[in-house]
Amino acid sequence: MFREKFKDGIISARDFNREDIEYLLKKGHQMMDIKDSNILKGKILATLFFEPSTRTRLSFESAMLRLGGNIIGFHSGDVSSIKKGESLADTVRTVENYSDCIVIRHSREGSAKMAARFSKIPIINAGSGSKEHPTQALLDLFTIKEELGSLDGLNIGIMGDLKYGRTVHSLAILLSNFNIGLYFISPEELRMRNRYKDYLYHYRGFRFKELTDYRKILDNLDVLYMTRIQKERFADLEEYERVKNFYVFKQDDLAQTKDNFKLLHPLPRINEISTKIDSSEKAIYFKQTFYGLKMRQAILAEILKD
Ligand code: NCD
Repeated sequence: MFREKFKDGIISARDFNREDIEYLLKKGHQMMDIKDSNILKGKILATLFFEPSTRTRLSFESAMLRLGGNIIGFHSGDVSSIKKGESLADTVRTVENYSDCIVIRHSREGSAKMAARFSKIPIINAGSGSKEHPTQALLDLFTIKEELGSLDGLNIGIMGDLKYGRTVHSLAILLSNFNIGLYFISPEELRMRNRYKDYLYHYRGFRFKELTDYRKILDNLDVLYMTRIQKERFADLEEYERVKNFYVFKQDDLAQTKDNFKLLHPLPRINEISTKIDSSEKAIYFKQTFYGLKMRQAILAEILKD
């Protein structure tokens, strides 16, 4: 079922239902101890990153190598022929001849969807402008499931730049498949855009709350997903300067949380979480990067296995 449905790749969190997510969470769990396998031997993954990345690209590449496959690609638009003026469509129609699956990150919204239209091989969206980042959201759910045992029944806060952050859009969409109390916490000017809220509320019938002061609900949260203010997406840098230090999560805040509370962050962190709490068992953002590797092993195995 899953393999048939996602044979053309992973473009949007909207394409996942609860069954698809649970299937991948189970597959991710099975990957936890697998770090040297041959299941993708002979396969080639292309990673085309037109925007900066540390975790997403390296975890996809590591996942591929750990499953016995090979990798090619580039990690800047400056070193490919896009720099000479080649279109993304032509790039994809070339790279599909050299590989079995393409992972793509691009600043343009809809870039992965567009690439998929031109590609004969599966495309995986690794970040399309400020719109979506579905595999990050899958690894976020995987982290929560592995750490807290279940998704249903949790109170989850998503905090920071909900306007420009792509991870939070995909995350909210995936979470709407579960029975969750969801809080969108942001400054007024960085609220989740209506197009996502309308989708969640009107299309999925999913209720959520919006607020600015996280202290009001902190002691009730099981998970807080913190995000960076997305400097590169602001047209007006003065506006960025005004909001950049809006939230800084510190030890005092952590002390207010439940015993089994977990703090997540897709990373990179700038200064929105004090480094003083990194050693707390509640701060699991570096563990989350390991779960990311495992989830990407699961995704690649499902999409590429013969
Ligand atoms: C995120 C991204 O690129 O959207 N990083 C990631 O993939 N882990 C988050 C961010 O850049 O803030």
